[in-house]
Amino acid sequence: MLKNDQLDQWDRDHFFHASTHLAQFARGDLPNRVITGGDGVYINDRDGNRLLDAFAGLYCVNIGYGRAEVADAIAKQAKELAYYHSYVGHGTEASITLAKMIVERSPANMSRVYFGLSGSDANETNVKLVWYYNNVLGRPEKKKIISRWRGYHGSGLMTGSLTGLDLFHKKFDLPFSQVVHTEAPYYFRREDPAMSEEEFSAHCAVELEKLIEAEGPDTVAAFIGEPVLGTGGIVPPPAGYWKAIQAVLKKYDILLIADEVVTGFGRLGTMFGSTHYGIEPDIITIAKGLTSAYAPLSGSIISEAVWHVLEQGTDDFGPIGHGWTYSAHPIGAAAGVANLALIDELGLVDNAADTGTYLNQKMKKALADHPHVGDVRGEGLLCAVELVANKETRSFFDPSLKIGPSIAAAMLNRGVIARAMPQGDIIGFAPPLCITREEVDMVVSVAKAAVEEVAGA
Ligand SMILES: Cc1ncc(COP(=O)(O)O)c(C=O)c1O
Repeated sequence: MLKNDQLDQWDRDHFFHASTHLAQFARGDLPNRVITGGDGVYINDRDGNRLLDAFAGLYCVNIGYGRAEVADAIAKQAKELAYYHSYVGHGTEASITLAKMIVERSPANMSRVYFGLSGSDANETNVKLVWYYNNVLGRPEKKKIISRWRGYHGSGLMTGSLTGLDLFHKKFDLPFSQVVHTEAPYYFRREDPAMSEEEFSAHCAVELEKLIEAEGPDTVAAFIGEPVLGTGGIVPPPAGYWKAIQAVLKKYDILLIADEVVTGFGRLGTMFGSTHYGIEPDIITIAKGLTSAYAPLSGSIISEAVWHVLEQGTDDFGPIGHGWTYSAHPIGAAAGVANLALIDELGLVDNAADTGTYLNQKMKKALADHPHVGDVRGEGLLCAVELVANKETRSFFDPSLKIGPSIAAAMLNRGVIARAMPQGDIIGFAPPLCITREEVDMVVSVAKAAVEEVAGA
């Protein structure tokens, strides 16, 4: 592509980037990177770099870049019918087909899919539906949502409140009072190092029960959690965690929202994280892997039992007052149909299981013994390396040293993209599900070299 010399200036002057230090960017202290293309696990930038994207964009390009099957489906849909809405019984072949495909792949007892555009708006929908549900059931007090510290559920007003990371609350007057946070299932950071995983899971369940009792069980409507904590540090749950948590939720008649925006459609080596961990959710949030980010689309998958109450609500109160102009957008839906078909055809869920095991084993072998690596953990094609100042005490580095971002930068210099997770010195890996063992070898060797460059050999 011909280089537009003004593009960098336009970027500094006019483009408001997401999650960016705005002042540094405007001053030119932060580099900009203009991405021009991609194929498989690689992306290309305008300066001629070819980078192995070991974070699949924002863990979303699950089929990899440049798949013509999905691009063609989008083009065909755009030519035939770029848009029609889904209000008052309208739909398209793509949106109806996709809803059926999603329910077929979902855990048992799932029934209907409401489509949105992003993980954030899907969780916004979920909270509204939970409130509506309790109003229909005549329980107007039962409205609070319990989320976990380090959970990530979006960056809207309610969803930013659900998110349990300081950066997403700071100076935004969040979280809202209807949201309360409980302990993260973060075994590596347990206070008592002598605790087994099972003991720590039991402790998390006790903490949850204490919180419910303190808030008043009649005021708590739902619990939201990611099967594997994602943006909060890529933390698989300790053994027995979901069983212990679900027992508490059942006892207090609290709905469970499984946020599968990252784990849905194969990332853990299974179609859903819920089935992976024996979670029986009432609502599931999906986005990212639904279209592999070829078009924006998200969904709320609703269980049969919740659906009945929603139906009853409309008989009692009239049509449900919830809709976006772009709900079930035909182009997103067409991308979703082609993407899910391709995941099956290429066997990407199985590849995530095989290659994910390989990635996690190799990463452990390469880095677990490093004096500043406290933990190497993961599940399927999710992996994290957590750096510590002192291995014995698991103490944190001084954040001003920016150890995590420096390692990610050192990896980038070697042609591999990993993500410095926003809280703590944690390097995250979540490559496209089509990654091969040879490509994993490159990711691991680059990660090792970068950790040694920044934290010593
Ligand atoms: C688990 C989870 N939920 C929700 C979201 C929000 O999705 P979006 O950025 O599409 O709004 C994300 C985004 O990373 C996520 O990881």
